[in-house]
Amino acid sequence: MANYQKIKGTQDFYDLSAKKLTYIEDFASEVAESYGCKHIITPIFEATEVFVKNVGEDSDVVSKEMYTFLDKGHRSITLRPEGTAAIARSFIENKMYANPGLTKYYYYGPMFRHERPQVGRYREFNQFGIEVYGNASYLLDVDVILSAYNIFNGLGIKNVTIKINSIGNFESRQNYSKALKEYFKDYVETMCDDCKRRINTNPMRILDCKVDKEHVALKNVPCINDYLTLESKEYFENVLRVLDEFKVPYIVDYNLVRGLDYYTDTVFEFIINSDDELNGLALGGGGKYASMISSMCGIDVPGIGFAFGLERISAVMDSQNIWKNILNEKDNVVVMGLDEKSKLESLKVADELRKAGIEAQIDYNSCTMKAQFKLADRLKSKYIVIIGEEERLSEIYTVKNTELKTQEKVEKNKLIDYLRG
Ligand code: HAM
Repeated sequence: MANYQKIKGTQDFYDLSAKKLTYIEDFASEVAESYGCKHIITPIFEATEVFVKNVGEDSDVVSKEMYTFLDKGHRSITLRPEGTAAIARSFIENKMYANPGLTKYYYYGPMFRHERPQVGRYREFNQFGIEVYGNASYLLDVDVILSAYNIFNGLGIKNVTIKINSIGNFESRQNYSKALKEYFKDYVETMCDDCKRRINTNPMRILDCKVDKEHVALKNVPCINDYLTLESKEYFENVLRVLDEFKVPYIVDYNLVRGLDYYTDTVFEFIINSDDELNGLALGGGGKYASMISSMCGIDVPGIGFAFGLERISAVMDSQNIWKNILNEKDNVVVMGLDEKSKLESLKVADELRKAGIEAQIDYNSCTMKAQFKLADRLKSKYIVIIGEEERLSEIYTVKNTELKTQEKVEKNKLIDYLRG
């Protein structure tokens, strides 16, 4: 027999694990809608340039982790490693920039990165995210951060710290890159090959190098805050001031640069503090990207957003024992038919119950009481509706409540109300 196995770094979600992901998606979507976001669904694969150009050639995501292949027309295609660049492509292609005011979308779905699988890190994973386009003040930055924070809180997740930083506008980053280049030049020979390249192409990427993260050079790196322009500094101070108003716990982390190239000014991550292996994992992250749209199409519309990983959220909810209050099994009903005609009747009754939103199951094979009780036992059914010849002809069914261990006669047309309690 062939030994079929899932691809390394992927997961099957079924039954409870699937229910958990759907629950998080639904909950987060509702919160996003309360902020005026609409749903957007874009393709799972895109032309490779969409990511190369925007996520950045020097980022690990683009240089090492993308699932890229040539399709049958010899076009380079990439399974999306993230949503932001793909949604920006859609924003432009669908001329959403013509909308007056802000354009706000939320999305969820699978993303693909060829990373080394470990706790909370997969090659196929699911993200939920929000992207907002349009000109707005620092108040929008705070609102976007709060929307994510409110999703975590609303799900019941505790011990999330917001790490925040400003990587400044274009001019700030040019100043900073120059300083980093100067600083790293004495160390670069002892750094990894990627960093040797990054020092010339994009020195900021050295700061989130996975290979050199313990390198001595990273201990005293120049601080980005010292290179921000006045405008960027003021913007950041305003973001922090408004966050203070909301009394959300944040830490300014000047080393937070994020692994994607499109960010400008505000960047943030949501870190879980936990006494298990999840400790320190980023549940989500995001930031402002003032020039991605203009670099793609010349139209000057800033964007800001965040995304979080559904698997990580679900794992934290496991670890904090939150699911037990959410995933209460709904009551179900087994409808028994004790002879062939009654079996058909049981199928019709089940059909009516399902239309009324009640989970109803029947045994398709057997008319014996024994087999049908066994089914109810296995499904932990709260109610069993018994239909034999007498019940069928009188249209008065026998209903057992397995929890109270009682049995009552219920008229056919009162069954739904009875089962609903
Ligand atoms: P990111 O930080 O690369 O940002 O990913 C966001 C979140 O996705 C992470 O915090 C983590 O929870 C989850 N995640 C990332 N990689 C993996 C993985 N291999 N396995 C499991 N979970 C993972 C972005 O993707 C940006 N597009 C966020 C954004 C939206 N920025 C602005 N708008």
